[in-house]
Amino acid sequence: GASSADKSSDFLECLTLQFQKSNSESDSIYTPQNASYSSVLQSSIRNLRPASNSGQRPSVIITPEHESQIQAAIYCSKKHGIQLKVRSGGHDYEGLSYISETPFVIVDMRNLRSISIDTENNTAWVQTGATLGELYYTIAEKSKTLAFTAGVCPTVGVGGHFSGGGYGMMSRKHGIAADHIIDAKLIDANGQIHDRESMGEDLFWAIRGGGGTSFGIVIAFKVKLIVIPETVTVFNVTRTLEQNATQIVHRWQYVADKIDENLLLRLFLRSINSSNGKRTVGAFFTSLYLGRVDDLLQIMQDKFPELGLVKEDCTEMPWIESILFFAGFQGKSRDILLNRTRDSIRYFKGKSDYVKQPIPEYGLKNIWKFLNQEDENRAELQFSPYGGRIDDFSESEIPFPHRSGNIFMIHYGVGWSQEENAKSQRHINWIRRLYSFMARYVSKSPRAAYFNYRDLDIGMNNIKGNTSYRQASVWGFKYFKNNFRRLVHIKNKVDPTNFFRNEQSVPPESLW
Ligand code: FDA
Repeated sequence: GASSADKSSDFLECLTLQFQKSNSESDSIYTPQNASYSSVLQSSIRNLRPASNSGQRPSVIITPEHESQIQAAIYCSKKHGIQLKVRSGGHDYEGLSYISETPFVIVDMRNLRSISIDTENNTAWVQTGATLGELYYTIAEKSKTLAFTAGVCPTVGVGGHFSGGGYGMMSRKHGIAADHIIDAKLIDANGQIHDRESMGEDLFWAIRGGGGTSFGIVIAFKVKLIVIPETVTVFNVTRTLEQNATQIVHRWQYVADKIDENLLLRLFLRSINSSNGKRTVGAFFTSLYLGRVDDLLQIMQDKFPELGLVKEDCTEMPWIESILFFAGFQGKSRDILLNRTRDSIRYFKGKSDYVKQPIPEYGLKNIWKFLNQEDENRAELQFSPYGGRIDDFSESEIPFPHRSGNIFMIHYGVGWSQEENAKSQRHINWIRRLYSFMARYVSKSPRAAYFNYRDLDIGMNNIKGNTSYRQASVWGFKYFKNNFRRLVHIKNKVDPTNFFRNEQSVPPESLW
């Protein structure tokens, strides 16, 4: 085959020609020779770890303003055998949207981010380059009682997030983002543009939780908006070990998935220094109630008095202000939701698990020991409750299979700074040890994982050459359970040559 330098220049030549043919401006093409290449590449990266481990940078970045430019990129990538990756918000935990071990180009959706809200039918068309912050902001501009159920971090991209699931503070009442997708616009491996009708129900099923990556480039999703009360209530409450955190967290497991579904009690656990300088664990309860404070207090008094929530802990506000609250922007102007970049970017590793039986108190105490092995505030566990609306769907309704039977999802995270990166292996080892310890307390056969918390430790494809069903099943069943079979079947139909591929994409059976 051609050398990677040849492939890149052939691709670029082809792309330039295609752009000329369609009278497209070529200022949406960046190569390493462009002054702004680095800033375009880095602007949406949220985790510095993956790129610091990988040698390859994209030989071309395309930031299309029009669909024909995406079609051109697909055509030329195919013609010259160079891999194509798609990036929307760039939040992939393992950087799969912007790094690769083989020569590649990026189609970056940042300029395709229009959002149109239909307040008559309570729907919205959202282009995949939009961020969650832009979506929430735009909905709130139009209505005080419409909203959408998706993730907490405003800079997360719609493309990766919706196609991989999308859990947020209203998921117990309203499910996940992918549950609300009612139409989509997608370009397939032949460069053809489809809507729901022309792509067919199989492919439309696949991109609602199965990840866009394996099946095409999603340009836009049409979603059903949700109706919310004008006033919601939020609170952040912290309990340390000295304040009975162990007993309260233990009890929380019996409440979190069963309590009124208007209430989502999320829990963050971190090792912190207490006021007397001693190391302790802080249980940070962060919660949203879709209703007024008095009703919330009544529910908490009935179902979870152990937390000792009082009125002073709570704040009533419009839903859009709660978005700022959970993003750590309380008191700031709403405009901050339109900000696509962030200043503090760290190196991190994340992993996930599902819990079906409460973890006993001595198990929690062992988790605290793990947390105390890391520096203050470096490591964090998030316990995100399930139940409610999430359970109303069968495991095969969409590819996201984590339904009835789960009390909560665990997100493990550990982060470090650039100066500390030389010792990163220490932290990676720590999170892997914790994950292996946790095996006894979490889901088994498969040990389920959340696709949007991408983790290459749980298995991956061959980077060069084909991947067998058996090999891909190792990670595939963890993310998708039995839905993985159907995803493979659909992949086989829509992309048998495996044009759309990455380290954890669904392989077609034709290549085993
Ligand atoms: P990115 O652009 O990196 O894409 C992710 C994957 O999707 C890649 O494989 C990419 O190729 C593919 N892809 C992207 N756009 C596509 C398109 N248009 N068509 C086809 N394929 C496409 N999750 C959650 O459920 N709830 C939460 O609250 C949060 N919070 C959160 C905070 C922070 C700081 C981070 C870093 C991540 C989260 N997440 C999350 C996880 C998040 O949902 C996950 O990383 C998403 O895949 C991110 O989507 P992006 O478009 O930003 O990623």
